[in-house]
Amino acid sequence: MKRRKTFLGLIMALILSSTLAACGGSGQVKGPEIIRISHGQPETHPIHIALSGFKKEIEEQLGDKYEVQIYANGLLGDTKNALELVQTGALDFVVGSASNMETFHPIYSIFSMPYLFVDENVYKEVMETEPIVSRIYQSTEASGVVSVGWFDAGTRNFYGKKPFETVDDLRGLKIRVQPSPMNVMMMEAFGAGAVPMSFGEVYTALQNGTIDAAENNEFALTSVKHGEVAKYFSYDRHQMVPDLLVANAAFWNHLPEKEKAIFQKAVRHAEEVEQVEWKKATEEAIDTAKNQMGVTFVDVDTKSYRDRVMPMQKEVVEKNPALKEIYDMIQPINMKHEEGAQ
Ligand code: GCU
Repeated sequence: MKRRKTFLGLIMALILSSTLAACGGSGQVKGPEIIRISHGQPETHPIHIALSGFKKEIEEQLGDKYEVQIYANGLLGDTKNALELVQTGALDFVVGSASNMETFHPIYSIFSMPYLFVDENVYKEVMETEPIVSRIYQSTEASGVVSVGWFDAGTRNFYGKKPFETVDDLRGLKIRVQPSPMNVMMMEAFGAGAVPMSFGEVYTALQNGTIDAAENNEFALTSVKHGEVAKYFSYDRHQMVPDLLVANAAFWNHLPEKEKAIFQKAVRHAEEVEQVEWKKATEEAIDTAKNQMGVTFVDVDTKSYRDRVMPMQKEVVEKNPALKEIYDMIQPINMKHEEGAQ
């Protein structure tokens, strides 16, 4: 705890000193206001590419007022720390997995519920359904942060040193999860032991055996090289958890109307760019992981996985009315796609 406080203090000092450097001797800010965005991915990642487009668009239209700075690779801390900085206003935006938002509002745990969406089309339609997402995005306003956009982060699957053909192959294993209560609950339902840790620690933990397996999209195999230390990727498709663009609520809410419209449009475009880049990046990642890293992709008995955790869905929503409301809004979309598929 103390170490984290020290780290946050250091980052705050860094940000403050760069802000002061932009000030004249009188303390009056000269030049554009700096907008800082943090994310935990490398610069080759679709999210970084999309944010670069966002930066360009904002600076082209509002360059006299704003300069956008993007900090990649978790330079300003992992998502959890960066979110705290967004909350205080030291940062303006962070991009991170929706799982991280569970600590701000339990409604976000909906995304970590295994097999929530029957397929990717449902997931995408839900993320584009205004009444659903706006309810989720605004839920944390009182805590000083709001989500303003989403990025595709694919489908999450288990990977490790051996294939997991059925859910029973997970039994008793230590598996890394994103630090969130719903993820811990899911892993317990699967019969494995949950080890919550940040994304940046996973490679070493896989390498030295602190964990037996992890779960993520295909891109993690190549972008952060997990394919070097995990040679089997089992397609159980247990979750689709979006990455979110989260803003400091005061910054976002106080943007003058005209500027807000420009920001919203730039977010929209960034979402579109990311989806195109994501598709390409996933195909490339599969190819590289297979042919250069020696990773085997395995189609597994997804029914055994699904059957194991489906009872958990009902239990969780029955205990949580806010979650039930969102869950019930998603079901007609699931049904529509299931019917269409028959
Ligand atoms: C995905 C997601 C990241 C997240 C990571 C994780 O890669 O895009 O935002 O940090 O999973 O498992 O922590």
